[in-house]
Amino acid sequence: MKSVAPYSSLATVYDAVMAHVDYEAWADYVLHLIDEYGWDGESDDAPPPTEGIHVLELGAGTGLLTEELLDQSDWTMLVTDGSAPMLAEARVRLGESNERTSFQELDFSTIWEADGTFDCQLLLYDGFNYLLDLEQVNALFASVKKAGRPRGLLVFDQSTPHNSINNAVFFEDAGEKGTLQYHRKSHFDVEMGIHTTEFEITGPEGVFREVHRQRAWTRSQVVDLLAQAGLEVVASLDGFSLDPAHDESERIHWVIRLPD
Ligand SMILES: C[S@@+](CC[C@H](N)C(=O)[O-])C[C@H]1O[C@@H](n2cnc3c(N)ncnc32)[C@H](O)[C@@H]1O
Repeated sequence: MKSVAPYSSLATVYDAVMAHVDYEAWADYVLHLIDEYGWDGESDDAPPPTEGIHVLELGAGTGLLTEELLDQSDWTMLVTDGSAPMLAEARVRLGESNERTSFQELDFSTIWEADGTFDCQLLLYDGFNYLLDLEQVNALFASVKKAGRPRGLLVFDQSTPHNSINNAVFFEDAGEKGTLQYHRKSHFDVEMGIHTTEFEITGPEGVFREVHRQRAWTRSQVVDLLAQAGLEVVASLDGFSLDPAHDESERIHWVIRLPD
């Protein structure tokens, strides 16, 4: 068995691993949040962009959500991910760069070059949980502030310790795609707040093992980190609802407004 980096071997079976996810509903929810809490055309606080909405998607993976967002909007999107194999799958799904979509390999846990033009930035489906320490979260927030237009939006979600604790029944899974089989197994270290997932991907070229480490940040930790970064919380919502997130929420969606 060969150990490889997260989201290298997994890229080819990722869509099968996520087959249970209703990405159309995810996209619908995200667009609803932006309509509800972002620009509404009437507020001086966050006027709507005048020349189309330009979106930076971080941790876009194979573009499953991107595809639905593009279908349900007239956005232009820069689609990014830190994993070249995942981004390659996204290119196959969405087509090469065109007038609405372009691609870039980008590590969101570092300070990246940005020109302050994005109306909205997205980091969805647990990407935030891949940030393991304060330094990485601070780098993300500092870069997002540079990349977005003044009073632009950031929408991200996070899985909390309650998700890892309450859903241990889903910690093991297996499936296949074409000639490839995968096996997934997780465990959660409550004390450290670290959720570890091991994938074994078996195919004609052998068996590959990936170990993914994610931090289950608590709601209050994220509240503090956002405040320290000078980012305004427009809404923090409990598990795909419009109800406020609370200390037992399993998943939280955050709608954040950048400073002037
Ligand atoms: C669970 S997947 C979600 C992908 C996609 N958003 C979706 O909804 O299917 C997490 C993604 O985050 C990416 N990722 C993790 N850490 C990253 C980092 N530091 N910089 C950029 N991408 C990262 C992974 O490569 C992976 O594609």
